[in-house]
Amino acid sequence: MSLYAIGDLHLSFAADKPMDVFGPAWENHVEKLREGFSTLGEEDVCVLCGDISWGMDLPGVREDFRFIDGLPGRKIILKGNHDLWWTSMTKMTAFLEENGFSTISFLHNNAWPYGENAAICGTRGWFYEESRGENHDKKMIAREVLRLEASLKAAGDREKYVFLHYPPKYGNYLCPEILELLRTYDVKTCCSGHLHAESLRWAFNGWYEHTRHLCVSGDGIGFRPCKIL
Ligand SMILES: [Fe+2]
Ligand SMILES: [Fe+2]
Repeated sequence: MSLYAIGDLHLSFAADKPMDVFGPAWENHVEKLREGFSTLGEEDVCVLCGDISWGMDLPGVREDFRFIDGLPGRKIILKGNHDLWWTSMTKMTAFLEENGFSTISFLHNNAWPYGENAAICGTRGWFYEESRGENHDKKMIAREVLRLEASLKAAGDREKYVFLHYPPKYGNYLCPEILELLRTYDVKTCCSGHLHAESLRWAFNGWYEHTRHLCVSGDGIGFRPCKIL
């Protein structure tokens, strides 16, 4: 059993949204994803770090979820800034059951145990490019910090692996509130996505304090899930 991560599938089976307009890396990206997942086994787990689908509501993401459910391994999904279909955990869980999507779970104020000693934690996070004024930012960061802390607490004594959509470190930018939680809870690895094309140049891959950071945006890793553990 191995743990993998990849962000930003940006699927659009139900809507006409060709992704190759975002650059040559996105040409046939669904085929690349199918190929990239082909080395995973049914016992493996892959965290999908947000920006899952362009769909606007749950019916609009059904075909994208059918594709994800058909990929090998168990998939754990968290929210990205483009996931406008995201709704309450109750509605999303009912959606999975109604459609028989048995290999998909959500990461939202919770944690999933992995193996004997590890846990999968995470939330969307926050990013300076979303800034819309100091009060708005404070409110959004505070909410995301609460979500991440709820997730980290839910992991108990297990070794914590964090998955975010927004990178907490990018170029010269730092998100101190999120980085402090990574330090306090002795997080081993932090994966994030969101960055595409030119902005991948400032992605941070390396150690910051005691945490290893990895950018797992789909186009940054050739649409091949990145092995974490
Ligand atoms: Fe994205
Ligand atoms: Fe994003």
